[in-house]
Amino acid sequence: MPHSRPTLRQFLLKEYRTHGTEKDLVFLLEDIATACRVISSRIRNGSFAGNLGSAGSTNVQGETQKQLDVIANEEFESHCRNCSRVAALVSEEVDEVTWIKDKPAVGDYIVYFDPLDGSSNLDVNLSVGSIFSIVQLKEAIDPSDDRSVLLPGTEQICAGYSIYGPATSLVITTGFGVHGFTNHLGTGEFRLVSPDMIIPEDTNEFAINASRHSFWDQPIQRYFDECVSGPEGPRGKSFNMRWTASMVLDIHRILTRGGVFLYPVDSANSAAGGKLRLLYEANPMGYLMEQAGGLASTGRGRILDVVPTSSHQRVSVILGSKNEVTRIEEYFRD
Ligand code: AHG
Ligand code: MN
Ligand code: MN
Repeated sequence: MPHSRPTLRQFLLKEYRTHGTEKDLVFLLEDIATACRVISSRIRNGSFAGNLGSAGSTNVQGETQKQLDVIANEEFESHCRNCSRVAALVSEEVDEVTWIKDKPAVGDYIVYFDPLDGSSNLDVNLSVGSIFSIVQLKEAIDPSDDRSVLLPGTEQICAGYSIYGPATSLVITTGFGVHGFTNHLGTGEFRLVSPDMIIPEDTNEFAINASRHSFWDQPIQRYFDECVSGPEGPRGKSFNMRWTASMVLDIHRILTRGGVFLYPVDSANSAAGGKLRLLYEANPMGYLMEQAGGLASTGRGRILDVVPTSSHQRVSVILGSKNEVTRIEEYFRD
């Protein structure tokens, strides 16, 4: 019965009482949850509203925007604007920083988000999601300079994602573990279904786009080749492979049953610095992974320690079960 499970508000108010989570952060998370609920319904009704397909525009990364990328961005932005402590927004779909406050002060929030992740899945009716990261300012910053938002992932106070799949779910951390909620059809409430999600340290499942094998660096090729060589190979066991083309979905599976996710820099994407974006894909997912007992690495160091140099910067991403990520880092050192 859904009523036996705490609502998102009940859960967040408990975090407020136990951990001192700020009331404004509670309000912001509720607004983000509303945005996700609205995006979910816009996606489900996309065919009827004529919202599937390209928007006929490209974003700063040179990617063709889907109509629903644009719609999801508008919903995310308008709901984040409800919170009086949000100083700026950084979205995958918007080239410049969206400044909301003239004088961003200590304690204000910056929200980084990927409004629709895996949007190539939309036209074939596969699941997609949204990703967000929240940083709290430790000092006043200058809104005339977009570089003011370039803060490392260690500054995050909250991160999460929503999945628009068979169920609409919301998974968050405020620095006290990772907790999963599902949207209950009927009441519209997000209710806690997966408290304290923990990633198993070992796994026999990996996620990588194997069509890029010829472009990979040697450590990634070695790791993959060992995983697919079966019980007779150096790993002495069989591995399973999954790739959904939506980071949110692959990460959710890993949070649920373990695994490792790789989107490394390779010879075909190195000019861009990799594929996935640091501020609104790698950092929030890295924070969630660490909070759930996993690791998030570039292969050569912790993702959260990377000091950003631009808003849409890309980074090499290897994250998931601790012992696999550690092994891959060792291969890079070799
Ligand atoms: P987005 O739809 O926000 O641009 O992100 C897509 C990303 C990520 O979600 C996924 O893991 C990866 O791109 C898929 O890349 P390939 O198409 O190379 O498999
Ligand atoms: Mn994405
Ligand atoms: Mn996206």
